[in-house]
Amino acid sequence: MEGLLEICYLIGSITFIIGLKMMGNAKTARQGNLIGAFGMTVAILGTIFLFNSEHTSRNAMKMILIFGAIAIGTAIGWITAKRVEMTKMPELVSMFNGMGGACAALIGLTEYEHNLGKTRALAFIIAGLVIGTISFSGSIIAYLKLAGKMKKPIRLPQYNMLNNALLLGVIVFSIFIVIQHANLPHTIIWILFAVAIIYGILFTVPIGGADMPVVISLLNSFTGLAAAFGGFLYDNKPMLTGGILVGSAGTLLTLAMCKAMNRPLSNVIFGAFGGGSGASGDGSEVNGTIKDVQVSDLAVMLNYSKKVVIVPGYGLAVAQAQHIIHELEKLLEERGVEVKYAIHPVAGRMPGHMNVLLAESNVEYDKLVEMEDINPEFEQTDVVLIVGANDVVNPAAKTDPSSPIYGMPILEVDKAKHVVVNKRTMNAGYAGIDNLLFYDPKCSMFFGDAKKALTELVAEIKQL
Ligand code: TAP
Repeated sequence: MEGLLEICYLIGSITFIIGLKMMGNAKTARQGNLIGAFGMTVAILGTIFLFNSEHTSRNAMKMILIFGAIAIGTAIGWITAKRVEMTKMPELVSMFNGMGGACAALIGLTEYEHNLGKTRALAFIIAGLVIGTISFSGSIIAYLKLAGKMKKPIRLPQYNMLNNALLLGVIVFSIFIVIQHANLPHTIIWILFAVAIIYGILFTVPIGGADMPVVISLLNSFTGLAAAFGGFLYDNKPMLTGGILVGSAGTLLTLAMCKAMNRPLSNVIFGAFGGGSGASGDGSEVNGTIKDVQVSDLAVMLNYSKKVVIVPGYGLAVAQAQHIIHELEKLLEERGVEVKYAIHPVAGRMPGHMNVLLAESNVEYDKLVEMEDINPEFEQTDVVLIVGANDVVNPAAKTDPSSPIYGMPILEVDKAKHVVVNKRTMNAGYAGIDNLLFYDPKCSMFFGDAKKALTELVAEIKQL
């Protein structure tokens, strides 16, 4: 029995590692996800049927409760994931992450009483409880912000100092409980739980809307860490491996996002960047003229180009224009035009957003070119067609030291012969700032909702 359980756990651990590795490539990501899920199922079933300890009893009622909970959780997770729109994915991730944190917190709350007197176990329990709880309440705030249910940034006076003092207080209080638990009432654990909830809220509340995906990834790494403490507590290998993988992957992703935006993590946490809903501004501060391009002229321009680079952004996802853009790409290729997509690492609202979106419409993966590789190609590009992107092509990132996005690497589209921007209005992107590119003499605006505008464009090209 014991040996069989170890084999289940080994399968779980190995499949997590293989699955995560496969998720690094769009072609194998789906399969990697399924492999990880398979390993998780084996580990859970192994624990339910093969794990034995002095507390284990398997009566019918317990089994009904366990499988009832699994069925309810699976149904809710399955239906929500199926229904969610791609643009709402960060919200879903933050909610799911919050649930992971809540699980770690519940483990801490239930295991505290069973482990009184065991200092090492208590240290793991308290660490998992505190980190899991912060991740839980922080993720709920992140969810509310992303869902637009908490638009006003709340910043208490001296909030950075207040938060740091509270964090220090939580750490000292936790150590005190581990050392002094024999002299403390059992309810002390609930006080720690409440304080950690408050810290999670205060930590996330001042952070600006634009930085929420980074915060979610950070909270995700917290959840992983909390789960890893659970793994230590139960001496459970898959829980430990899974927790460490989530923790380290979340940390790496957080740092990768910060690097792509050229902002240190401290600036994300303390900078209060992009507060509120983020998408604000009306371009009124910039003086200059913009020019429109008509759909018929654009159709001719694209049709007679040698090389076209499409820059997808958040607006493409909002408009769900991924299928029509693929149709445009195929149409142009049939007419001998070379077409590529320029992928900025933080285009959209989540890591890999554009890759996922375009993979949905079966755009060939080889056509998606990363920023560093496409930037040198713009000089030989006849037309850059920007669809629903703004910040990732904003030259202020290179030229204006006072800009909040100064230093962020951008797609250097202004090197191309012509630039055409499709968006609905002159409104700003997520960083809430104007874009001087739109006033560049090389640049023309093709106004309209991306799906509608591209559908008209495709129809026009077909007539040529
Ligand atoms: P944004 O700068 O947010 O610009 C998107 C543009 O799409 C808007 O200016 C909007 O203009 C337009 N748009 C909206 N709906 C549209 C529709 N239906 N049809 C056509 N256009 C539409 O997007 P981006 O260039 O992809 O940059 C991403 C931003 O998010 C960056 O600031 C980045 O730092 C931030 N961010 C990203 C991530 C990740 S991981 N991707 C994480 C954190 C922060 P109109 O309203 O005028 O149409």
